[in-house]
Amino acid sequence: MNILVTGGTGYIGSHTAVELLNEGYGVILLDNFSNSKPEVINRIKRITGKDFRSYNIDLLDKKRLGKVFEENQLDAVIHFAGFKAVGESVANPIKYYQNNVVGTLVLCETMSRYSVKKLVFSSSATVYGTDNNSPLTEDMTLSTNNPYGSSKMIIEMILRDLYYSDREWRVSILRYFNPIGAHESGLIGEDPNGEPNNLMPYITQVAVGTRNKLTIFGNDYPTHDGTGIRDYIHVVDLAKGHIKALERVLVEPCIDVFNLGTGIGYSVLDLIRHFEESTGIKIPFVLSGRRPGDVAVCYANPEKAAKTLNWKAEKDIHDMCRDSWRWQSKNPDGYKLV
Ligand code: NAD
Ligand code: UD1
Repeated sequence: MNILVTGGTGYIGSHTAVELLNEGYGVILLDNFSNSKPEVINRIKRITGKDFRSYNIDLLDKKRLGKVFEENQLDAVIHFAGFKAVGESVANPIKYYQNNVVGTLVLCETMSRYSVKKLVFSSSATVYGTDNNSPLTEDMTLSTNNPYGSSKMIIEMILRDLYYSDREWRVSILRYFNPIGAHESGLIGEDPNGEPNNLMPYITQVAVGTRNKLTIFGNDYPTHDGTGIRDYIHVVDLAKGHIKALERVLVEPCIDVFNLGTGIGYSVLDLIRHFEESTGIKIPFVLSGRRPGDVAVCYANPEKAAKTLNWKAEKDIHDMCRDSWRWQSKNPDGYKLV
């Protein structure tokens, strides 16, 4: 079985490629390196000891994308390629709709043309918006408050319409909670461009000395310590969830939506404490106001994925902290100096 992985050198794509190769799938990686480095390809090969084809292609380039389908006998696609910075999406919505929504349309059109109609798609817990109470279930009403989230919501709608128009499509929509951690080899991990937006890369950059201190956004939320609560999930568990979703789209006609989370919420202060316990490194922080657009509490009800996909997150918060730190300490500048 040959699987095309779009955005395959990105954070989650690279970890999923490793799991696919370990499970014996043929992998074809596609990325335009707008938010990743070609070095990731060497690292995936080093971890798995396996070879595979990779393409430096923009998803919006219909012609070159078609060639990938011509040159490879593809069975399914796992689609990660997209932009993901919320703030940037507010400043430049057209860039986000163009890349995320139009990119997905070009992909689906090409898949249809080559009769490859099995798709696993990266959505986000951000589509639950600010009005639902955690634990979040897949049937809740969706809403978003930024163009990034809207792009995910629109793509979910497009994929549903596609399935109802042509029942040969088999689609699994995965709503990720907060992926952190890294492969246990320390060879691949999250490598944000510039100042990190997300909490864990900020913590590890403070730990490695790239940043002086963490700023905590809000300590007046209605939570046990006033800081925001999230469902952090190890990226390798998340990657394994894709294999389960893939197994299902390969055999079952479906349009499914699954939460991929642990079902456990940790506050910002909890995460700092666990990181300090796991690594022995102190994280200095200052308290500041709330970040616009943040919700107080966000964690999954992961039962649907457990029942239907037989998937459950296995790694705990210490594994997540330890593996995030291993990656950052072995690669203080990410892939940049390679
Ligand atoms: P990432 O930025 O590390 O990976 C995305 C990859 O897609 C990058 O390598 C980038 O170069 C590539 N890419 C972007 N646009 C492209 C295009 N037009 N053509 C070809 N390649 C393109 O991000 P990630 O954290 O690995 O996220 C993967 C997916 O999961 C994204 O769609 C993201 O929105 C979604 N997601 C991520 C998170 C998270 O916290 N990381 C949470 C929920 C959902
Ligand atoms: C953010 C995005 C969300 C996206 C998700 C994964 C916003 C408003 N939301 O969500 O759309 O799906 O990332 O990419 O950007 N925090 C700090 N200091 C920091 C960074 C974060 O205190 O320097 C806090 C946040 O306020 C939050 C928690 O840490 O309470 C987690 O933040 P983050 O890692 O950015 O994830 P989300 O807020 O869930």
